[in-house]
Amino acid sequence: MNYLYLFGYPLGHSVSPAMQNAALRACGVRGTRYEPRAFPPERLSDMFAVMREPNALGANVTVPYKQMILPHLDGLTELAREIGAVNTIVKRDGQLVGDNTDAYGFIRSLRVRRIEPRGKRAAILGAGGAAAAVAFALGDAGAREILLLNRTPARSAALAERLEARFPKLQLVLDDWGRLGRAALVVNATSVGMTPRMDGSPLPPDGWVARGVVVYDLVYNPPLTLFLREARARGARVIGGLEMLVYQGARALELWTGARAPVRVMRAAAQAALDSPS
Ligand code: ATR
Repeated sequence: MNYLYLFGYPLGHSVSPAMQNAALRACGVRGTRYEPRAFPPERLSDMFAVMREPNALGANVTVPYKQMILPHLDGLTELAREIGAVNTIVKRDGQLVGDNTDAYGFIRSLRVRRIEPRGKRAAILGAGGAAAAVAFALGDAGAREILLLNRTPARSAALAERLEARFPKLQLVLDDWGRLGRAALVVNATSVGMTPRMDGSPLPPDGWVARGVVVYDLVYNPPLTLFLREARARGARVIGGLEMLVYQGARALELWTGARAPVRVMRAAAQAALDSPS
């Protein structure tokens, strides 16, 4: 048996195993399973020992590893290096190469809804690995302005520095919460509002939500966070995190197997796993 892994800590109830195993079956990839493995950070070396076994083909990594594992990999794709975060490891000739499919997943989920970031103002809440992927994706798609808002301003400043170097024309605004109302697209890339602490919201809705603004929450469990519910009640167009999850997973599957990802099968399996947590 060969393995693809999901590494994170704690992992909680992730829908990725259901989604990826359904995809592997639908693609006819036999003898390969996708398995969650929750190694705590102090066992990072064990995690890499597992990845270096010959039957390990690749992995996804999630909180808290997206940035932490960078120095331990054999190589990075240019995109992962730029973003400074890895969500997918691909084994090539025995080498562990870090890639990032979050950026693709985010942009793809907008484009299938005909939402075009080019020339628009966007705001991102958070400054971790997920926020960085979203910011680089928006920069690459030609957004005019990105407002970075984070609990820890030093982290948004560090992210802004890297964005500035890569996208000299992009306007970057830091920690100016009053400017939120000017954004056409607002993305929650923090973990606030995620199960089991579903009563949290990264922002109160007062003042900034205008009719028609797109509000995207990368949290997928619950499917409709308090943040999205409040934004929707004020006329925003809302998108939940399951969409990005599906497309980042689709891209990862393609990198690991070379097969064309069965996106519908993946979405249905992810949705079913969310609806009936076992
Ligand atoms: P990921 O790689 O998934 O983005 P991360 O790097 O741990 O995970 O980033 C989590 C983000 O959520 C950060 O922006 C974090 O803010 P800090 O940089 O201040 O830590 C944000 N976050 C997590 N819990 C939060 C909370 N209770 N309130 C506000 N922001 C929070």
